[in-house]
Amino acid sequence: MNRRKFLLLSSLAWAGLAFRGNGIAEAQQISKRSLTLRDIARGSGYDIGCAMTTSRFEDKLFMEAVRRECSCIVAEYQSKRHVLEPSRGMFDFEGMDRLVAFAHKNKMKFRGHTLVWHAANPAWLVAELNDVPKEGGLTEYIAKVVGRYRGRVHSWDVVNEAINPADGRSDGLRESIWLKAFGTSYIDMAFHAAHEADPNASLVYNDYNTEGVWKYGDAWRSSTIEMLAGMKARGVPIHAYGMQAHLDPNDRPIDPKVLANFLQEIKDLGLRIQVTELDVRDFKLGRSVEEKNRIAAETTKLFLDVVLSLSVTDEILTWGLSDKYSWLNDSKNAPFYGGIPSPLPLDWKMVRKPMWYAIAKSIAVKTK
Ligand code: XIL
Repeated sequence: MNRRKFLLLSSLAWAGLAFRGNGIAEAQQISKRSLTLRDIARGSGYDIGCAMTTSRFEDKLFMEAVRRECSCIVAEYQSKRHVLEPSRGMFDFEGMDRLVAFAHKNKMKFRGHTLVWHAANPAWLVAELNDVPKEGGLTEYIAKVVGRYRGRVHSWDVVNEAINPADGRSDGLRESIWLKAFGTSYIDMAFHAAHEADPNASLVYNDYNTEGVWKYGDAWRSSTIEMLAGMKARGVPIHAYGMQAHLDPNDRPIDPKVLANFLQEIKDLGLRIQVTELDVRDFKLGRSVEEKNRIAAETTKLFLDVVLSLSVTDEILTWGLSDKYSWLNDSKNAPFYGGIPSPLPLDWKMVRKPMWYAIAKSIAVKTK
């Protein structure tokens, strides 16, 4: 056993204590020189990272944590279309440029999120798509944005959330403005345009709601497989399935067999599987903070162990890094979820939580 692996295993054996308590006492003992998620991920061959925004640049403690724990980042909203093209043909790349520059200065990769989505579209585009849709409104935008960052954004969520069986279509596709404008072919069009603009970028279809068991879980999974299989059969340049992984152990518990079977079908299509937006909704869980933290850690471990067992994952990103900045805490979500959610690996003071140890254990044990 080399020294690196020895250090890794002994630190994790010690970290195992965190699952019995709330993890905070143990976490506080970690010296600055001990292993970070970034170190552990590198040892196992993964990239690990989080979503963030330029407004965090002012928070020194948070930024130290990002630099310490992450080998890649994704923009939480600054590479969405309402930010990049607020008026027709008027682009604003400032926020995304600053994030990409930060990533590269710190030797991190940068994921682009997201080129085509039913949400976060500027009003002028929604009006145009409803009125006289122009193909260029989709393909020229992709060419411009992906082309600008060619070689600097290694992976793009090309289409986000195209499925929604609750809309009642037999193919399970979401009745989005894109579908209404161009029919089902908008998905292929988007991937072709992205590939043309950066032939080396990894192109991802990203979605939620396929991780757990719930009313539409099976339909969401089978519609996803049908859509991805069709794309592969037509020779569409798609390289990976992105699982958002907004885990909800209360309303959408994970059945490891169901999840593994679904992921195996994706693997059989020749696609890789990335974890793109991991967090845990704990608002209905546990009576104490300790119990909530334990459940979040166990849910994370259960999920990651299944995903990583397929050996087709390169990247694991959480949606934020510290509970202080979780989207579940923002003014829109917090009143809906109630309480103060703690869905992420670090607490408000950047102290490692049991979820941090859960990720560390999963990625240490299962190398890429
Ligand atoms: C969320 C951001 O976290 C919020 O800040 C923003 O207001 C709305 O979007 N799935 C996705 C992400 O693909 O883009 C969403 O991000 C969270 C759900």
